[in-house]
Amino acid sequence: MSHINTSSPKIDNIICLNSSDLDSLRLGMSEIVDLLDQMFRQRANEWMVNPPKIFEHRSDTRLYSSMVSFAPSIGYASCKWQSGDADNPARGLPLIQGLLLLTEDQTGQPVAMMDSKWITGERTAAASALLAREQARKGASTLSILGCGLQARKHLEAMTTTLTTLERCVVYDIIPERAKAFKAEKQDNTALEIVVASSAKSCVTEGDIVVSGAPIVEHPKPVIEPAWVKPGCLGISIDYDASWCPQTVAAMDLVLTDDRGQLRDEQRKGHFEGVDQIHADLSELLVSNRARRSDDSQRILGYNLGIALEDLAVAAELYQRAVAGRIGTRVKF
Ligand SMILES: NC(=O)c1ccc[n+]([C@@H]2O[C@H](COP(=O)([O-])OP(=O)(O)OC[C@H]3O[C@@H](n4cnc5c(N)ncnc54)[C@H](O)[C@@H]3O)[C@@H](O)[C@H]2O)c1
Repeated sequence: MSHINTSSPKIDNIICLNSSDLDSLRLGMSEIVDLLDQMFRQRANEWMVNPPKIFEHRSDTRLYSSMVSFAPSIGYASCKWQSGDADNPARGLPLIQGLLLLTEDQTGQPVAMMDSKWITGERTAAASALLAREQARKGASTLSILGCGLQARKHLEAMTTTLTTLERCVVYDIIPERAKAFKAEKQDNTALEIVVASSAKSCVTEGDIVVSGAPIVEHPKPVIEPAWVKPGCLGISIDYDASWCPQTVAAMDLVLTDDRGQLRDEQRKGHFEGVDQIHADLSELLVSNRARRSDDSQRILGYNLGIALEDLAVAAELYQRAVAGRIGTRVKF
């Protein structure tokens, strides 16, 4: 994790980092898992500010979000501004797009502007892989993924970095061509057998780990029923309340989240019906062992809504690598 550089000279440039710049910094998925692990542990004991994201739908399938955080021990603050539009893939555009602004905490100077979709893509999958490392049942062999977009690709990579027992990846997409394209693109680059499921049910019922990555919507019509979830399954929702039915949530042995405050904030807006109890957040799980899996038949659901401190931890590391490697475009302010 990045730390305060108290001897840094006065900075009068902002470094702009596009996705190619960020790729060139070679921050690997396993390193991002480690950054998040460290941040969530530190968060249990240190002052880190992470208010719930501003998250507003501009239609059922389109949204804006803004996420701010700061952490003196990381040495930076960040603000991420993004849009989401489920129609964008059909336009050849990413569903999630935006920018992240990084500020040095000691001086308050803005130091970098980055492509946020790179960070969001990586850290979301890394957070799922971190949760899976801690809560998947022993010997978990099948990863099931609903939605075959960017997150499916990143989750395939991330899960294989933390779970060595995986053998198969079963995927489903409401648009079958996208599932077939996922298999065609990924099969030669993974040791897992990729299987395209013909329905959401046949995808979910196979999974020791089930990641739901359909579009987040204002008016959810969830499909995952209690009977679809096999004993020992770890479900990970990155699509808020889009996929898991309230009665399925109620049937879970444990319900976790990355941030209690953020989930409760969404409940105040009428979302996450059925989430009565959150047994632990990720910091509590890592530090105090609260809500650990106690046997291989427990069914666990983790709501990873994505938190601003994840972005901050990753952006700070990317920035420091960019400075060291003289990567990016300097813009004088
Ligand atoms: N929680 C977080 O931190 C976080 C971060 C990034 C993205 N997300 C969310 O994750 C989801 C996936 O993001 P992405 O970047 O991979 O999007 P994407 O557009 O690249 O992929 C989404 C895929 O889901 C498919 N799909 C649509 N409806 C479906 C359904 N009912 N069942 C199965 N598949 C369906 C689409 O055809 C598309 O291929 C989005 O909801 C996004 O908002 C969450």
